[in-house]
Amino acid sequence: MDKFIIKGGVKLSGELNASGSKNSVLPIMVATLLTTGRSVIKNVPDVDDVKHMIKVLEYLGAKVTFKRNTLLIDVPSKVGYVAPYDFVRKMRASYYVMGSLIGRKGKVDASLPGGCAIGERPIDLHLKGFKELGCDIKLEKGYVKARCKKLKGKEMFLEGSKGTSVGATINVMMAAVKAEGKTIIKGAAVEPEVSDVARFLNSMGAKITGIDSPVLTIDGVEKLFPAEYSVIPDRIEAGTLLVSAAITGGELLLKKCNPGHMDAVLNKLKEIGFKLSIGENEIYIKSSRILKPVNIDVLPYPFFPTDMQAQFVSLLSLVDGISIVSENIFEKRFMHVPELLRMGANITIDSNKAIIKGVKKLLGAPVMASDLRASAALVLAALAAEGESEIKRIYHIDRGYESIEKKLRKLGAKIKRVEE
Ligand code: UD1
Repeated sequence: MDKFIIKGGVKLSGELNASGSKNSVLPIMVATLLTTGRSVIKNVPDVDDVKHMIKVLEYLGAKVTFKRNTLLIDVPSKVGYVAPYDFVRKMRASYYVMGSLIGRKGKVDASLPGGCAIGERPIDLHLKGFKELGCDIKLEKGYVKARCKKLKGKEMFLEGSKGTSVGATINVMMAAVKAEGKTIIKGAAVEPEVSDVARFLNSMGAKITGIDSPVLTIDGVEKLFPAEYSVIPDRIEAGTLLVSAAITGGELLLKKCNPGHMDAVLNKLKEIGFKLSIGENEIYIKSSRILKPVNIDVLPYPFFPTDMQAQFVSLLSLVDGISIVSENIFEKRFMHVPELLRMGANITIDSNKAIIKGVKKLLGAPVMASDLRASAALVLAALAAEGESEIKRIYHIDRGYESIEKKLRKLGAKIKRVEE
């Protein structure tokens, strides 16, 4: 198991490119199963979750090549219909095979994903959508077994008590593109990754309108075709890299990103006091001496993303004054906080709120990563901390950040990967 050793206190400075979006490419990879033949996906981040999804596709019968951020996915005329526990346990996003295999075969057996480090994560909305399309759903021995003779388009409301669902919207949309007639998904998630998958499906011949809005209209088609597509930039990786410059008092020119997907994060950085200049595909951030605390409400897009919450908790722990971060999507997503406390942060958790009292400095310490974004938050804190930090279990960060230590080293960070 690898760990990072980080010597903090270096002001990061330089230029980087953002990678492609992990959360877009995972369902896009699975969507290729809706047809037979070779699809080409570009701007794919070289991260462990993508490698894991390649294994899922290969298990189902596809042939996959991954070179220089491009995936070639050859889907045969016969594909499997089972997603075993081992795949889904290692990566929740494996559950996207449900939507695409229901669309392709009207049949899937997928292991239930269960909870994870950031809390309970039900899939009731996914199942509700599949049922609306005419699937018979059984839960047996930890598996969802969906069977459908004929998928029929339907109007449905997919929002749950916690708001819209990215996963359910994508999963149901992937099944609905092959349903007979019109499906209208109201209460659809509007995250850019949902739109990216919809655009990929349209490039395969699907007929989805209302993209970027909470009402998706899907006119079912009988046949889809392989496609060539380039994935959008990863707005969460981009935000994390901006914070790496911000938290160390440095500067960064981030290229190949999409600022249009990052309004909430960019506005908070400005509100704290960082200087930003924003181009069409690039963002320049520079630190400033006077920083002020802010309050953040984590909510579905276009509001502040839960996937940037942990990184901002690290950043705000060094901003003088009191900041309050309310997590309204995954209410228990504060696993990074006890580790930040060990580095000298002053943070109290009150139900779904982190109350952060800024400290003058953080001190390097051995810490443990618990999930993907929590590990990013710890890396950021360690970059700013005085002295050396050791971050264990960085396999979490490898799931979703392409060459993170190389990118940070390019900016001057003293970070090395060590095998334990
Ligand atoms: C996706 C992202 C994840 C991000 C999250 C929210 C991927 C691979 N993962 O996760 O990085 O943090 O969106 O932006 O893209 N819910 C239900 N019932 C359901 C489904 C969801 O109650 O059937 C709840 C969840 O528990 C959560 C909220 O709805 O409280 C939003 O979850 P959702 O948008 O579905 O997150 P994911 O798609 O799992």
